[in-house]
Amino acid sequence: MKVLKKAALGAVLVGITASTVYAAVKPDDAIEYRKATMEVIGWNFGPLGGMLKGKVPFDAALAKRNAERLEYLAALPLEGFPPGADKGEKEKTTAKETIWEEPDKFKDLFEKMGSESAKLAEVAASGDEGAIKTQIGEVAKVCKSCHDDFRVKH
Ligand code: HEC
Repeated sequence: MKVLKKAALGAVLVGITASTVYAAVKPDDAIEYRKATMEVIGWNFGPLGGMLKGKVPFDAALAKRNAERLEYLAALPLEGFPPGADKGEKEKTTAKETIWEEPDKFKDLFEKMGSESAKLAEVAASGDEGAIKTQIGEVAKVCKSCHDDFRVKH
C-alpha cells in the first residue's frame, strides 16, 4: 500500500513538473501559488519581526530555524510570476505591473532576501541578541523594499 502511494505521488510530481515546463501556467494558478508561498514566508518571518519589535520573547534558536527556512523559501515565489500572470480571473492579486517591466530587479530582490536570511541564520547561531536583531532588520528591509516597488498598496 505504501509503495503504491509513493508511486502515485511520484507520478503526480512528475506530472506537475512536466506541465510547469511544457504548458503555459494559468494566471489564477500562478497567483494562488505565489500568494501561498508568500504566506509561508510571512508566517516564518512573523516571530522574527515580533522579536524586533519586542512583541515576541527573544529566542535565538527560533531565529536560526526560521532564518534557515526563509533562505530556502526565497527561491520559491518567483515562478509564480510568469509572463501574462499579472491579472487573474478569480484570484485577486496585489502584484504590480513593474514586476514584468523590471524582472531582473525583482529577481535580484528575492536573491537578496535569500542571502540576508542566510546571514541571519549565521548570526543567530552566535546567540548575540543585538547582532541578531540588527540582521532581522536587514531581512525586513528587503521585504519592504520589494513590496514598496512591486506591490500595490492595499
Ligand atoms: C522580490 C519581491 C518580494 C520580496 C523580497 C518579498 N515579497 Fe512578499 N510579496 C511580493 C509580491 C509581489 C506580493 C503580492 C503577490 C500577489 O498578490 O500576487 C507579496 C505578498 C506578500 C504577502 C501577502 C500574501 C497573500 O496572501 O496575498 C505577505 C504576507 C508577504 N508578501 C510577506 C513577505 C515577507 C515577510 C517578506 C520578507 C521576509 C517578503 N514578503 C518578501 C513580493 C515580495
